[in-house]
Amino acid sequence: MSNFLHFIVTLVVMLSCSLLNPTLTAQAASSSTTVYEQRIIHSPDGIGKYYMGREIAKVMGYTGAGWLERPSREEQEQPSKIVSVLNLKPNDVVADIGAGTGYLSFRIAPLLITGRVLAVDVQPEMLEIIELFKHEKNITNVEPVLATLTDPNLPDESIDFALMVDAYHELEYPQEVMQKIVKALKPGGKVVLVEYRGENPFIAIKRLHKMTQKQVRKEMQAVGLVWRETKNLLPRQHLIVFEKPYLPNS
Ligand SMILES: C[S@@+](CC[C@H](N)C(=O)[O-])C[C@H]1O[C@@H](n2cnc3c(N)ncnc32)[C@H](O)[C@@H]1O
Repeated sequence: MSNFLHFIVTLVVMLSCSLLNPTLTAQAASSSTTVYEQRIIHSPDGIGKYYMGREIAKVMGYTGAGWLERPSREEQEQPSKIVSVLNLKPNDVVADIGAGTGYLSFRIAPLLITGRVLAVDVQPEMLEIIELFKHEKNITNVEPVLATLTDPNLPDESIDFALMVDAYHELEYPQEVMQKIVKALKPGGKVVLVEYRGENPFIAIKRLHKMTQKQVRKEMQAVGLVWRETKNLLPRQHLIVFEKPYLPNS
């Protein structure tokens, strides 16, 4: 059989297997050491990579910056409520993970008299926008931090809060990133996740850009975070709070 014919036959077999049993194909395709599965047939909005049963969404590119800054956002999503519910202390260090244009960072920074916001993102173009806004708004305590796909690049035990607004569902390596965030949190530090409510089919957001509370809690538990509370104060999003537990002798 020619190489080309062999390739076509293999492709047909793989596709028919995945149509019959996508999970089986995914497991076969994934290495035994990884926590992720790669599937051939998947949502056009996702990257075909699954973590704990959830397909990871495609990253929102920097060309979507205008959407993050849209004037109707406050009315639609009431993000100022997120800021007020954090109960920040003036000297807190807050990491805004997946900061985008810094929409949340610049609303938090004025509350931190001696503290600061680390605005973390993987897209250098987003960090350039944050630099621009820093000068325009004359805010000095927002520090852009360039992350890699697996590492937010934060020093150990240096942050009081990790805030992730509409960002967690698109992390390509959620387990690695969350493990690094847990290391970067001070004991007793908090992770605050804001995600569109996946339980509600009437919330007009693509499925992979929403998360159920059950799924979020499962994924946070997997990295040793303890659920503290879920606040139902936002019109379309969950706000879920987790804590890094104190070790017995810390
Ligand atoms: C939908 S935007 C949300 C931005 C911002 N939190 C907001 O609500 O305005 C998600 C952001 O997460 C960033 N992101 C994706 N993967 C990341 C990672 N591994 N580490 C840091 N940022 C990441 C993307 O570049 C994008 O800017």
